[in-house]
Amino acid sequence: MKDTVTIIDNATGKQIDCPVYQGTYGPRVIDTQALYKKLGMFTLDPGFVTTASCRSAITYLDGEEGILLYRGYPIEQLAEHSTYLEVCYLLLYGELPTAIQMLEFEEAIKTRQLVHEHLTRSYAGYRYDAHPMSIMVGITGALSSYYHEALDINDPDDRDLTAIRIIGKMPTIAAHCHKHSVGHPFVYPNYSLGYVENFMNMMFSHPSRPYELNPKAVRALDLLLILHADHEQNAGTSTVRLAGSAEANPFACIAAGMATLWGRAHGGANEAVIHMLNQIGDRKNILNFIKRAKDKSDPFRLMGFGHRVYKNYDPRAKIIREACHDLLQEMDTVDQPLFEIAMELERIALEDEYFLKRKLYPNVDYYSGIILKALEIPLPMYTVMFAVARSAGWISQWMEMISDADRRIGRPRQLYTGPVRRDYAPVELRGPITAVLRNS
Ligand code: ACO
Repeated sequence: MKDTVTIIDNATGKQIDCPVYQGTYGPRVIDTQALYKKLGMFTLDPGFVTTASCRSAITYLDGEEGILLYRGYPIEQLAEHSTYLEVCYLLLYGELPTAIQMLEFEEAIKTRQLVHEHLTRSYAGYRYDAHPMSIMVGITGALSSYYHEALDINDPDDRDLTAIRIIGKMPTIAAHCHKHSVGHPFVYPNYSLGYVENFMNMMFSHPSRPYELNPKAVRALDLLLILHADHEQNAGTSTVRLAGSAEANPFACIAAGMATLWGRAHGGANEAVIHMLNQIGDRKNILNFIKRAKDKSDPFRLMGFGHRVYKNYDPRAKIIREACHDLLQEMDTVDQPLFEIAMELERIALEDEYFLKRKLYPNVDYYSGIILKALEIPLPMYTVMFAVARSAGWISQWMEMISDADRRIGRPRQLYTGPVRRDYAPVELRGPITAVLRNS
């Protein structure tokens, strides 16, 4: 028997049978597309709490169990055995690459890392102290001016090339943001280095002092990039899909996703966590901050805690916390006091009725800043690092959306609560003149 749900409109007595689908995993999904046609009704779901906006075969997460899969592979296995570039390939094409495919992919990415020299001059238009995310959004959007007329989004080869360009250029654009803020000359990509090594070299090498790559730091950054690469239909990714559904330029779509990611409730939380831990400053102040987080009249929230989907420990946070422990043994740049405050705050919160009842656990942003700090990445660059990693997920989701045969422009409806129709009144009939004209 076909799986359906019957929706009855009690006001009119009309009813429809809506098809119900079962994905590979996850809750069953009611297809409500016929609702408007047959019953003249919309659904209301602010924040998309129960709305599946698309079909996707890229990433799956089970919030109750704390499971995250990229193309079916558990994040723990990818974190242990894979590399960010291999994960990019997996997200884009659905399978892990063979050795030859990987070599070709690496070569293609490498040769797309350089950005147009004119684009590097655009940085000069930003204040030296501009937040690097504002520059990232602007410069990524500006890429659309280089790749627009000749880019046919309906051509699979052009889409492929776009994905390669995005993944290739993001570290360069990000490193230039950092160099702009410290006033150092930009460092060009070096084709002889690996993806992450090259990123770190562009961030930290200096004309007067060569940069020595630390393999432990390279591996830690690679790990962070893997963990942040995709996360199904979150706010940033949904923004990319929505903009893309209008057939907007893909570089502009990625810039739109970045703007969303920058928000404190989203990827901006990694920076906010470090501000919060610095503000706490000492273990003895933790209880006071927990008290503030629970107080509804106080806007303060525990940054890096809570998630729309995870009602269990975020598996990415678990991996990052372990990596922090490892790095503590291996690198003397780990801020041990800050890490200890973070662990103690977590311990106290996870024993507290308020957090237990609401299933609030550390999310990906909670410990990632400790690693970024150990890698000597400046605090305002934290969300930029997230954006570099997530670009792979965004462009994979964009490719999936554009090649979907059922693609339609994303156009949500609304429950209108404004005034009823009324007629325009000339200004003299709208009430007494109360304004006082000064200096006349
Ligand atoms: N500290 C204190 N209370 C919290 C927190 C928190 N960090 N997060 C949620 N709550 C409370 C809410 O006040 C609410 O309480 P109530 O039921 O008494 O009203 C309840 O938990 C449910 O929270 P919502 O805000 O409804 O959850 P939602 O799914 O809308 O928001 C979000 C999720 C935005 C992540 C939220 O938990 C938050 O603001 N966390 C802090 C910011 C953060 O870490 N963001 C990064 C998320 S991961 C990412 O985007 C990469």
